Amino acid sequence: MQRILTMEFGRVTEAAALAAARWIGRGDKIAADDAAVEAMRAVFDTLHMSGTVVIGEGEMDEAPMLYIGERLGTGEMPELDIAVDPLEGTNLVAKGLNGAIAVLAIAKKGILLHAPDMYMDKIAVGPAAVGRIHLDAPIRENLTNVADALNKGINDLAVVILDRPRHQKIIQEVRDCGARIHLISDGDVSPAVACAFEGTGIDMMLGVGGAPEGVLAAAALRTAGGEMQGRLWPEDDNDIARARALGIEDINKLLTLDDLVSNDDVFFVATGITEGHLLRGVNFTPQGAITHTIVMRGKTGTVRFIEARHCFAKKPKNMIRGACS
Ligand code: FBP
Repeated sequence: MQRILTMEFGRVTEAAALAAARWIGRGDKIAADDAAVEAMRAVFDTLHMSGTVVIGEGEMDEAPMLYIGERLGTGEMPELDIAVDPLEGTNLVAKGLNGAIAVLAIAKKGILLHAPDMYMDKIAVGPAAVGRIHLDAPIRENLTNVADALNKGINDLAVVILDRPRHQKIIQEVRDCGARIHLISDGDVSPAVACAFEGTGIDMMLGVGGAPEGVLAAAALRTAGGEMQGRLWPEDDNDIARARALGIEDINKLLTLDDLVSNDDVFFVATGITEGHLLRGVNFTPQGAITHTIVMRGKTGTVRFIEARHCFAKKPKNMIRGACS
């Protein structure tokens, strides 16, 4: 995949983040999401590529834009698969809480798992702990091995878990082992990616969240050389049928990083909307706004953090959508 697209992909998530940020704390997660979707969609269509959404806002009849199967870009080569979450953490934006990002992964055709919109049980760690986790291992074993790999005591480990009743047992187990937990109300992509970077204060992400979010995080961990495992977590027969329709026969299969993202020809791109462990949120200034974006290229392992200063007076309209009425 061409390196020249690096900056272009960054412009896509910047646009979504700028649009969603107008809705921070306004209590309207639908409007925030719509603004991010519309802005992301508009910039995508300026890109010289032939993209197909494989993870998006839903099926064609559920989503007017960025639906699964939608074609994006000018139609020129290269042919790419695209996973998007224009606003990862809709509640976070509605409530003005930390951790919301605009995010996408782009890869050559067939590399990204076409994950259905259902739950996935996940475990993620950074490069130093590769080979030291297993989704089915007891919590204590995983924590002991990761602490050992990171040359820390278990009580110095920081684990991120979504604050949900379904996680009561693992939260207790992690606490019993003495590790520290950051409970989050939403948005498990950002902390999973943060595991891959020393200095973010996050060592591991555990628990059941969205399967599409799992593939997005896996794209980043693949690029950074970290590890992630997952297993679909169907709630009913409908979920199982949805997975089968996307070609996943064995619902109980342990999904390794290779299953989630099958090779390195992938980009992961995210822009902070609200403040996070990895990225600053959008900061509106007298001239426009400042954004923080990460662009990760799997082929080379290059990670770019881009601070952009946007001047709204000079910006094309499709980059500053989402103003609240
Ligand atoms: P949004 O779709 O509202 O942005 O929520 C994202 C998210 O918090 C993910 O980060 C997480 O994987 C999933 O939802 C958790 O789902 P649930 O809220 O149903 O537990």
